[in-house]
Amino acid sequence: MRRHFVTGLRANRINGLRYCAPLLWAALLAGVVGGLEVGGRTQQRQAGGEERAEQDYQNMTSGERAASTRAFLGLGAIPDKAAALRGATHFAQNCGACHGKDARGAMGPSLVTSDLVLTDEHGQQLSAFLKKGRPEKGMPAFATLSHQQMIDITEFLHLQVENVANRGSYKMLNILVGNALNGKAYVEARCMTSHTAETFAHIASKFRSPEQLQRNWIWPARYGTLTAKVKTPEGTFSGWLKQISDFRITLVDRSGKTHTIDRGPGVDVQMSDRLAGHQEIIMTLANDDMHDVTSYLETLK
Ligand code: HEC
Repeated sequence: MRRHFVTGLRANRINGLRYCAPLLWAALLAGVVGGLEVGGRTQQRQAGGEERAEQDYQNMTSGERAASTRAFLGLGAIPDKAAALRGATHFAQNCGACHGKDARGAMGPSLVTSDLVLTDEHGQQLSAFLKKGRPEKGMPAFATLSHQQMIDITEFLHLQVENVANRGSYKMLNILVGNALNGKAYVEARCMTSHTAETFAHIASKFRSPEQLQRNWIWPARYGTLTAKVKTPEGTFSGWLKQISDFRITLVDRSGKTHTIDRGPGVDVQMSDRLAGHQEIIMTLANDDMHDVTSYLETLK
C-alpha cells in the first residue's frame, strides 16, 4: 500500500501535490468501495454495492475514517502532535525560508510529496539526511540540530503529510463562506417579523462554534416552544405544553406552576408553535441563504 501511494506521488511530483489530489481521491474511493475498512465491516462488501460502502464510510466516526484512510494510503505511524508542535517552531526557524512555512515548497521543494519524508519512520531516515544535507544542491547540512529537534521536525513533516493526504482526519470545515451583507438583508426581511434586534445582539458569543450557531439559528432547542391556551368553565390557563393526550393536557404557566386539565366537554385547547416560523424557513432555505446568514450572525459577537 505504501508503495502504491508513494509511486502515485512520485509520478506527479513535478506538478506538485495539487495535481495529485484527484489521484488521492480516486485511491480513497477505490479503498472505500473496495471495502478496505476497519473491523468486521469487510463482510458487508459482498452484500452491498457502492452506495452501501459510501454509507458505511459516512457512518464511521471520524476516528474510524482516519484509521481506514490511513491504512489504505499507507501513511505509517500516527504523527505525534506534541512533537509536531515543537517541530513547527524549529521548522520555521531552520527550514521554512526555503521549503515554505507549511512545507509545501518555496524555492526548495515541497516536503509533503518528498519520498524521503513519506518513507521515513519516526525520523530515522530524515535525521540521517539532515545531518549531511545535500550542499551541492543547495540543501544545507544541519549537523548542529539536536537529535530531539530533528525528531520534532520530522513529526511536524509527517503531520503536514497527514493533513494533506488523510481526508478521513479532517474535522473542521470552514462554514463561514457566505456573504454577511446578504445575510443581514435576509435577517431583516425574514426574521425581524418575529424577533427584535435584541435577539441577535451578541448571538455568536452564545455558541462555541459557527457550526453550533448555524444549527441553532435554523432550528433552536425545542424545549418549551409549544404553547397552549386552555379555556375551561373554571377559567383560562396558558403556558408551555408539557404533555398532551386525548384525555388530558399539562401546562406550565409563567410563574412555573403546573396545571393538569382534563379535556372534557366545554374545554377548548388552542396550541401554538413558537417555532412555526423556523419550520417555514427550513422549507424554503437555500444553501446560499444559510451560508450568508451564518456568516452575518457570526459577526455579532
Ligand atoms: C537554503 C535553503 C534550504 C534550507 C534552509 C533547507 N532546505 Fe531542504 N532542501 C533545499 C533544496 C534546494 C533541496 C533540494 C535538493 C535537491 O535538489 O536534491 C532540499 C531538499 C530537502 C529534502 C529532500 C527532498 C527530497 O525528497 O529529495 C528534505 C527532506 C529537506 N530538504 C528537508 C529540510 C529540512 C527539514 C530543513 C530544515 C531543518 C531544510 N530542508 C532546510 C533547500 C533548503
